[in-house]
Amino acid sequence: MARVVLTNRLPDEAVELLVGAGHEVDGWEGAEAPSREDVLARVAGADAVVTMVTDKVDDSFLDAAGEQLRVVANVAVGYDNIDVAACRERGVVATNTPGVLVDATADTAFALVLMATRRLGEGERLIRSGQPWKWGMDFLLGMGLQGKVFGLVGPGAIGIATARRAKAFGMEIVYQGRSPMKPGAEAELGARRVDLPELLATADVVSLHCPLIPQGQPDSTYHLIDADALATMRGSAYLVNSARGPIVDEAALVEALRDGVIAGAGLDVFEDEPRVHPGLLELENVVLLPHLGSATVETRTAMATLAVRNVLGVLGGDGPLNPLGG
Ligand code: GLV
Repeated sequence: MARVVLTNRLPDEAVELLVGAGHEVDGWEGAEAPSREDVLARVAGADAVVTMVTDKVDDSFLDAAGEQLRVVANVAVGYDNIDVAACRERGVVATNTPGVLVDATADTAFALVLMATRRLGEGERLIRSGQPWKWGMDFLLGMGLQGKVFGLVGPGAIGIATARRAKAFGMEIVYQGRSPMKPGAEAELGARRVDLPELLATADVVSLHCPLIPQGQPDSTYHLIDADALATMRGSAYLVNSARGPIVDEAALVEALRDGVIAGAGLDVFEDEPRVHPGLLELENVVLLPHLGSATVETRTAMATLAVRNVLGVLGGDGPLNPLGG
């Protein structure tokens, strides 16, 4: 029997898989996410830990867990919160949950496209403010999507799924990525691969779907969208980020939105979550969501279940389904 620590609440279905396999499960019952101190205290002596995007799995986490730790299963596809090299050095398997959250996250990304371009957040806030309003010919006009250019940065599964939605809305697709799209996707979407400067200069909507690769690493995406990048976008364009906050320089984005360098933005992620740059809160031309990309009952259940299957694969000797770091 192994000791499995869950740093946050998991759907019953996922917990039952662990219990059914005979493991001792240390779950989290708190209504709010645990503090870092709570997490470090609870992981001590664990054979397996199921982590969330909000957990930083670094040397101090691995030290706190102890040498018996065999697997860290992240309930997310992005794994910038995990020091995969540090895990590997200690013989700890790290895993993620690709595939199961593609449509939910693409839905959220495209919801942000619609909310930002059609000023839906602004309209909602106006009604809730109690201010008088009436229909008007030029009242809260936004940008139509049909015939416009969707600029996809990061043509992985979520990026392609979002581009599919953009195409269904009549948009033309251009994309930038380290590698081309998977076979067939380019033809399906009628997509054209361009470099980032061309994408920024031509897209009406720039949507970010690349992983966060930290500063100093090859192909780093940290502050990929900085003041210079924003300055090369069209004045009528919108930026959507449903990937990771630090890909965008948030302070530079505030200035660009305030000064009309770009028309608007939709953000599901922030540089230093849960903090949101105070400048963003004052602006009408930005839609802000609290990291809801994969937040459906079905998707979170699938993610948690996949993370648990990764744990069971390692503990049972069959190996993980989604190992990180090759
Ligand atoms: C969520 O942010 C994820 O990476 O799955």
